[in-house]
Amino acid sequence: MQQHIRKVAIIGTGLVGSSAAYSILNQGICDELIMIDINKERAIGESLDLSHCIDFTNSRTKVHAGTYQDLGDVDIVVITAGPPPKPGQTRLDTLGIGAKIMEDMIPQIMASGFNGIFLIASNPVDIITYLVWKISGLPRNRVIGTGTSLDSSRLKTYLSEILDVDPRSIYGYTMGEHGDSQFAAWSHVSIGGKPLLQILDERKGEFGHIDLDQIVEDVKKVGFEILKRKGTTYYGIGNAIAFITKSIFNDDHRIIALSCVLDGEYGESELCTGVPAIITREGIKEIIELRLTVEEQEKFRKSTAVLRDYLASLGYEEKILATV
Ligand code: LAC
Repeated sequence: MQQHIRKVAIIGTGLVGSSAAYSILNQGICDELIMIDINKERAIGESLDLSHCIDFTNSRTKVHAGTYQDLGDVDIVVITAGPPPKPGQTRLDTLGIGAKIMEDMIPQIMASGFNGIFLIASNPVDIITYLVWKISGLPRNRVIGTGTSLDSSRLKTYLSEILDVDPRSIYGYTMGEHGDSQFAAWSHVSIGGKPLLQILDERKGEFGHIDLDQIVEDVKKVGFEILKRKGTTYYGIGNAIAFITKSIFNDDHRIIALSCVLDGEYGESELCTGVPAIITREGIKEIIELRLTVEEQEKFRKSTAVLRDYLASLGYEEKILATV
């Protein structure tokens, strides 16, 4: 019985890429995993180490080092290549190096005949995702950034600790830039379907102390709190990559906050930013347009303006129109 061999390639086998690989292997998400890095010895070392996990997992995954030429029949290419911010830098400050890496790498990948889905985690992820879309020429539904998936997970983790509820029963997103200009769409956060704002209003005595703005600040900053202590983050983003990859292969039609190429949604075009989207085997099926409050719309607009400024700094002569 001829079954489709689910193939994933991870480009960038540093801490983020190897954590994603480890999570993908332990969950048996694909049948073949190709590890690619500019440091070929590193890619070989990671592949060998990962291959020694298989005996302790529930499924056999073939894992090996490879090159861009191996990508012609790969389903999902995960891109994690790029430097973490240095102390005092923001994610956006790494854009110059990240852009150069993509301008060099993407044409080589496309020359292999790759015609699958890009899943980008490299920062600044919204702008890097846009660049990969532009350079690759793939349809927008098949160029996806991890966006604010990790931030939304962090938001739900904070709320779960405050409300003593499993984070998987909390629904909601941070949106916009995976960075300092992101915001929480509080008007659409629910606890098992009950609006959070209604719960806070009904139980002022118990939850009156909760500062929603502070929670968003904590979400924005926690990546740097981790970076300050261990040099970079990798478990959270590694699992986010695995979760999205699994959702694609399972054709889940799950809704995740991802960095998507907008074409009129939320009144924006020619831009990638974090929005809730339905993820399927074909990539993004639909971008969910929440009815944001006026305040949330303003925050969204401010966040996209930050991204546009950085895009412009790259000299991309695009008709960057905010179709308001
Ligand atoms: C973080 C990295 C992935 O927020 O940007 O942990």
